[in-house]
Amino acid sequence: MRITALLFLTLCIIHPIKAEEPGKYIPDPDTSIQRKLENWQDLKFGLLMHWGAYSQWNIVESWSICPEDLSWASGGRKKGMGDDYAAYRTAYENLKTTFNPVNFNPEKWAAAAQRAGMKYVVFTTKHHDGFCMWDSKYTDYKITDAGCPFSKDPRQDVTKGIFEAFRKQGMWTGAYFSKPDWHSDYFWWKKFPPSDRNANYSITKYPEQWKLFTLFTHNQINELLTNYGKVDILWLDGGWVRKKTDEEVHETLTEIYEGSRWARNPQSQDIDMPALVKHARTLQPELLVVDRAVTGPHQNYLTPEQQIPDTILPYPWETCLTMAGSWSYVETDKYKPSDQLVETLVDIVSKGGNLLLNIGPSPLGEFAPDAYQRLDDISRWMKQNSEAIYATRPMDHFREGDRIRFTRSKDNKVRYVFLLDPPESTVQLRSLTLKKGARITALASNSNCSWKLADESVMITLPKNVQETSEYVWVLKIED
Ligand code: GLC
Repeated sequence: MRITALLFLTLCIIHPIKAEEPGKYIPDPDTSIQRKLENWQDLKFGLLMHWGAYSQWNIVESWSICPEDLSWASGGRKKGMGDDYAAYRTAYENLKTTFNPVNFNPEKWAAAAQRAGMKYVVFTTKHHDGFCMWDSKYTDYKITDAGCPFSKDPRQDVTKGIFEAFRKQGMWTGAYFSKPDWHSDYFWWKKFPPSDRNANYSITKYPEQWKLFTLFTHNQINELLTNYGKVDILWLDGGWVRKKTDEEVHETLTEIYEGSRWARNPQSQDIDMPALVKHARTLQPELLVVDRAVTGPHQNYLTPEQQIPDTILPYPWETCLTMAGSWSYVETDKYKPSDQLVETLVDIVSKGGNLLLNIGPSPLGEFAPDAYQRLDDISRWMKQNSEAIYATRPMDHFREGDRIRFTRSKDNKVRYVFLLDPPESTVQLRSLTLKKGARITALASNSNCSWKLADESVMITLPKNVQETSEYVWVLKIED
């Protein structure tokens, strides 16, 4: 007995017992949601689109009206507009009066995305600036308002057009919706100047105003989930709008972002997510809800932003990533090279994630030629190799060295090897065990490879001219 107590004490000293840490991922207990998530994990590749009145200015989406001294906010403003914040914000909000994307052609976007192998779309129905890209009856700050020239166009409800076009291509639809709304008086109340990204008044002092904001948010989401056909994903951005305990409110005071203290108003901003989600699922059963960066039951999957985790994550996840540099359209933006994009997809899938790749449409409603080019390149690669991507699951060892990745079929009968460098005539793999009689094929050309065991490794002889049979990443298929 005494020895056990001593051992316990020693263990506590070596590994101090921490107060229980909140889990990063809380699975939804509903089995139909789990099933839907499983299917979502089969899709692997989706398109994100950031598009709004801000797209006219070649600037960051929304952030330039946020009074925080951060590089992408203050530094992200349109040049030559002077230093006057109020004047800038008025000019920004007036972007509504010139937004006229006459070349809007979502069928063309959807066809290109489908060819590239994308299986779902997430579209910014409303970003933080509050400008609605659908016909919301709860605000006039929207594309369908008479004050916006595109309201004269029969295609004015672009959310409808986008969802319909992508659905026709067999893709799932997702509504990006910003919880913070910097246009709504219920969030940035005109009574006070805004000071940062948060609600600009005391919610404890003015609970009625916050109630109105909560109702406004619920109403808008209700519209999106009622009038726009089947919606598969509700992608909620602006994780700082969330319920907080008193303890968390205190902790947030020390939250530092880019060297600045942004959370100057770190109060609890509770929009009653349980009620919102419950109602949402009466409208759209099995709706996946992604309350980004809010640990809890309403974040059905996690969404690392502009980064790829180092390793397999033990829960459903999706990296959202810009195809160019910015989420929003910037005329001079540089698009990432196609080999890098394909490698990124492979890397993410080998770690069990999905890739949500962003393109920002132009003010006229077009993708940049470079974006189409990249989609075409990816589509050529996917045509040959997509079976190694879709519906796969990660292997325990998802990689060998830096330049080789693996995936496997769900039933474990097939494994895939991704060679990120142009292969020589042979490849040696140390982390694979093969059964006698295993069949290895080069996926792009569907030609057999011979193999033998050598030195506790597998030596595979590739078909002649294997390099020419594919590009970017070469894939081998193993059946045993
Ligand atoms: C960040 C930004 C936002 C962007 C989003 C995309 O959360 O606030 O501007 O829409 O990332 O992931």
